[in-house]
Amino acid sequence: MAKGTGSGESWGTRIGVILAVMGSAVGLGNFLRFPGKAAQYEGGAFMIPYFIALLVLGIPLAWAEWGMGRYGGVRGHNSTPGIYRTIWRNRAAPYFGVIGMLVPVVIYMYYVFIEAWCLSYAYYTATGALSLGNDSQAYIGFFKNFIGMEADGFLLGNGGVSPAVIALVLCFVLNFILIYRGLSKGIERFCLFAMPLLILCALVVLGRVLTLGTPDPSKPELNVLNGLGFMWNPKTEDGSFLKSLMNGQMWLEATGQIFFSLSVGFGIIITYASYLKKDDDVALSSLTSNAGNEFCEVALGGLITIPAAFIFLGAAGVAGRGTFDLGFMVLPQVFESMPGGRFVGTLFFFLLFLAAVTSSLSMLQPAIALLEEGLGLGRRASVAMLGFITMVGSFFVVYFSKNLMALDTMDFWVGTFCIFVLATFQTILFGWGLGIDKGMEEINRGASIRVPRLVGYVLKYVAPVYLSIVFIVWLYQQATAEKGNYFKALAEDRVAQMTVGFIILVAVLFMLLIAQSVKRWNKQEQLQSEAKS
Ligand code: ALA
Repeated sequence: MAKGTGSGESWGTRIGVILAVMGSAVGLGNFLRFPGKAAQYEGGAFMIPYFIALLVLGIPLAWAEWGMGRYGGVRGHNSTPGIYRTIWRNRAAPYFGVIGMLVPVVIYMYYVFIEAWCLSYAYYTATGALSLGNDSQAYIGFFKNFIGMEADGFLLGNGGVSPAVIALVLCFVLNFILIYRGLSKGIERFCLFAMPLLILCALVVLGRVLTLGTPDPSKPELNVLNGLGFMWNPKTEDGSFLKSLMNGQMWLEATGQIFFSLSVGFGIIITYASYLKKDDDVALSSLTSNAGNEFCEVALGGLITIPAAFIFLGAAGVAGRGTFDLGFMVLPQVFESMPGGRFVGTLFFFLLFLAAVTSSLSMLQPAIALLEEGLGLGRRASVAMLGFITMVGSFFVVYFSKNLMALDTMDFWVGTFCIFVLATFQTILFGWGLGIDKGMEEINRGASIRVPRLVGYVLKYVAPVYLSIVFIVWLYQQATAEKGNYFKALAEDRVAQMTVGFIILVAVLFMLLIAQSVKRWNKQEQLQSEAKS
């Protein structure tokens, strides 16, 4: 077998790679997206499709990505196009890698902007700039103004550069410095320090929330237990728990949440695993990162955000609030009302920022891997090139800030649609391309635990069918939805059209880069076979 053109980099320690993958997984999805979705579907009911998706799709697919990544890495490839090509010897195989590039790179373009909000909100909470009293409208106004929600170009042309843009530049610089330092010295070292720190911060915030008692004696129903109940209790009166379970939308949202949260179907885990050595454990490491992510999501994210908001604002203040509403409009007011709230609020936004950085970093590595191994670029050139591409994308998101149209459109078409497509492709690649005999052998080689063969059958038969059903039903629901219909938006809204045009442009760019890489790999293989004969 010919040896590929990968960088030859590797992880320093086992705990380092586990924390790096966990760092990629633990992000804004855990502390904002998950509590919002769970509360929307009465917590207890949501957890049923959530755990089924975790067991049937999330954990098996993560194993498949770890296994395929190490398989490609051992053969000298770190990028998804290179890895797909080693598994499936078909001329089309590397071109599927376009989605493996598009997903992390485009998500990075808007994710880093939200990361900048977290950094700014930590600063504003610490300095008291977010102490806006008890009027919820003040917090809504502050946020809308901060992110330029009223008009396109607001953040760039309003008499100077806005604070959100300054924070964005800082986040960009931090991410690219870490990526430039490389896998072990940049990503691994940062995650080794950031992950324990963010969990510590979350535990302190959780301790504060769970000891709030009944802060306003005139409203005894607003207490910690009722806050937890609001988040987690399934409604059992008049059998409506079963009725809740019949809600198709909830099953779709739970599946999407598992992918987003575990960073499965992102092209990230497969890239990270390609830097493992031939006999490094993948089975237990993957399970450990998933368990760590679930701890942060369910036990930390699930117990902090919604219960805290309920205790101060009641059900009316929380119900129906989306992810950003909850994080950047509701919680600042909650921290303002809470004893010790300024400290706790600062910690909370700082931990969100750390969680976001460990995730955004991981979104850069897949493209760096392609630029290095496909085009033969050095670290400096690949970082500069990716920096330019992502900067243009983030500028696009920042410019078209009215109602966050560009951000939302990217999040729908890439952050949900393309993740489904990539996850489905990778499941099929594992089950049918690599095959379950070879695939399970790969996952179990050097492993500290034995993954049962049943998982192979789940990946080959159950997961693709489950995924396809969920995907088709989800597409149908989206296309016929009254509110938040992205298909309709695409037909009618100029910014949505431009955003999709931009995404296609990025895809074409990666297609060209992959075509160039394939030429390089073919040439290399030819040289190697000539040298042998
Ligand atoms: N997995 C990352 C998150 O949850 C992307 O935010």
